[in-house]
Amino acid sequence: MRIDIVTIFPEFFRGAFEYGIIRRAQVAELVDIKVHDLRRWTQDKHRQVDDRPFGGGDGMVLKPEPIFAAVEELTGASEREAYAEGTRVVLLSPQGRVFTQSLADELAKSAHVVLICGRYEGVDERVAEALVTDEISIGDYVLSGGEAASVVVVDAIVRLIPGALGNETSAVNESFSDGLLDYPHYTRPPEFRGMRVPDILLGGHHAEIERWRREQALKKTERNRPDLLDEKKL
Ligand code: ADE
Repeated sequence: MRIDIVTIFPEFFRGAFEYGIIRRAQVAELVDIKVHDLRRWTQDKHRQVDDRPFGGGDGMVLKPEPIFAAVEELTGASEREAYAEGTRVVLLSPQGRVFTQSLADELAKSAHVVLICGRYEGVDERVAEALVTDEISIGDYVLSGGEAASVVVVDAIVRLIPGALGNETSAVNESFSDGLLDYPHYTRPPEFRGMRVPDILLGGHHAEIERWRREQALKKTERNRPDLLDEKKL
């Protein structure tokens, strides 16, 4: 898989992909991640990437021309319809559809993902209308830009690439993959500050442990994310 990130703050990503699973996936050549400075695609001598909003209002808006030029060069396509099969061009913005595990699964199956980091008060709407395949928000809060959101999206998709996790089953057993939160985990010591690890986990009865974990996952989901239970057929 190839991932290209287009940003006006390339330095933001320094070190972001150099740890753990994401680093390993790059070393194993499962993914090639490149960060690009949007200013590379400006034509004027001030390398201007933003301008004042038509209709007035505060702040600056990212201009369409450099973003279109960046995506056209990185994808080799000149229109959205002409993207190669398996290419996704994503705009990170608070106006996008909310990022979920199932969207991460979908993106992880793509051959090429281009992530465009929005900034300032916004991005010229023609980018969302005519250039991108997906406009994605990582949650209902406003960040100062799409950079932190891009790191989240890259992390969530790279770990789903087959071979990226050491243990192939571990992506299947965790939170969200079956619509529930993960069950609680414990390690040594068996007693810490008066808090004991549940006896059942110390006993070695695998079927009972499985049942307990499922119950606990349900309880935790009920307590912290009842909305997930409404969506799920139990
Ligand atoms: N940019 C600003 N806020 C954002 C959000 N919640 N998700 C994605 N990109 C953003």
